[in-house]
Amino acid sequence: MTNRRSPQRLVVLVSGTGSVMEALLRSAEDEAFGARVAAVVSDRPGVRALEIASDAGVATAVVSPGEFPDRATWDEALARTVATFEPDLVVCAGFMRLLGAPVLSRWPGLIVNTHPALLPSYPGAHAVRDALAGGAKVTGCTVMLVDEGVDTGPILAQSAVDVRDNDTEESLHERIKAVERALVVDTVGRMVRDGWTVEGRVARLG
Ligand code: GRF
Repeated sequence: MTNRRSPQRLVVLVSGTGSVMEALLRSAEDEAFGARVAAVVSDRPGVRALEIASDAGVATAVVSPGEFPDRATWDEALARTVATFEPDLVVCAGFMRLLGAPVLSRWPGLIVNTHPALLPSYPGAHAVRDALAGGAKVTGCTVMLVDEGVDTGPILAQSAVDVRDNDTEESLHERIKAVERALVVDTVGRMVRDGWTVEGRVARLG
């Protein structure tokens, strides 16, 4: 995949605090980054991520499942809303829902996600807790492309984080997130500037 326009337009999907989104937003304020955050879309109203985005003058939208009769209608609404912001790349940054076919088929291979574990170990919503319970000595974070599975898409980049004997889920997740923010910024930046390839399950940057 290569650049279609510069700067490219990122639409970031969030569900909560938005520290990963904020790192991306701040880095993308520099023209040399090659992309800017065109909009931040949340599945939950009132979250801190939306406040950070609005304060930075970035467009926001909320597509909350509670406002739709069923999952399929929400999937369609999310796809429609994201499309209005004309993304070149969609970045899930702490977005805690699985994307359905309407979004996946509209931006095939153009949706990036970040996960707080070294995939394929510890997929799913409780990756940090699962790594601790599993006795892992090293865990970390993964930036990958999104496919139909749960955290199964081609891996773009990973960083390792040591687990400490006295770690709690919170302390470990905070250390992972510090590394994860830098990894997401670096990976998305390289994607928009230099492109990437995917062969089977193997993704390569640049
Ligand atoms: C990250 O660890 C992400 O991988 C996970 O949720 C966290 C998002 O944190 N799914 P924040 O909302 O960006 O602070």
